[in-house]
Amino acid sequence: MGTQANGVTIHPTAVVHDSAAIGKGTVIWSHACIGADVVIGEDCRIGHAAYVDRGVKIGNRVVLQSGAAVFRPWRLGHEAFVGPNATLTNDRDPHSQRTRDTGELIFKMGDGAVVGAGAVVLSDVQLGAHSFIAAAALVSRDTVSYGLYVGSPARLKGYRCTCSARYSEEEGLPRRCSECQKTY
Ligand SMILES: CC(C)(COP(=O)(O)OP(=O)(O)OC[C@H]1O[C@@H](n2cnc3c(N)ncnc32)[C@H](O)[C@@H]1OP(=O)(O)O)[C@@H](O)C(=O)NCCC(=O)NCCS
Ligand SMILES: [Zn+2]
Repeated sequence: MGTQANGVTIHPTAVVHDSAAIGKGTVIWSHACIGADVVIGEDCRIGHAAYVDRGVKIGNRVVLQSGAAVFRPWRLGHEAFVGPNATLTNDRDPHSQRTRDTGELIFKMGDGAVVGAGAVVLSDVQLGAHSFIAAAALVSRDTVSYGLYVGSPARLKGYRCTCSARYSEEEGLPRRCSECQKTY
């Protein structure tokens, strides 16, 4: 692993565009690819063979697991987690001869949100803060904060606190978690 002056660690096989801004403490593993104008915050882990498209913006303490792919114009909040081989997409009508101009659009993955292994999030979707997407789910609509979503298409199954406590859909969003006492 090579270390840059500002405390960023980049594996020699990673490809990081010169215009990308990487925060201190961030580690970029082997064969990751970071595009032009990408902004990555501090203390992030960008896993093996992760792909970060040009213009993507990522907060602090974010984890992209190996093979995760994040396309523009996604923006990831602080402490977001994207599981291995999960994909945040940008075009519901892709075509080899046409690239969608996402212009001023922003697809936001909120703070603390989790996308499980192999999940696919379609474009034009906003993921609420701390929402949790199960492994292999297919997300086609916005998710609510703290919502737990499973399946293809992904459906709300309940709620999950940041301490991992679960609540049924009927219980709704707890104002105070009975496990960790967090209120939200
Ligand atoms: C969705 C999830 C949170 C459920 O966890 P859980 O509440 O402990 O659920 P259980 O394991 O008790 O399973 C409950 C039911 O849901 C099913 N299930 C579990 N995960 C599922 C998933 N991702 N998609 C569809 N069904 C799932 C189980 O088979 C079980 O069904 P059954 O009752 O008919 O047997 C979890 O399985 C998951 O997908 N976590 C993400 C893991 C991940 O991607 N990690 C990445 C880091 S490497
Ligand atoms: Zn809790």
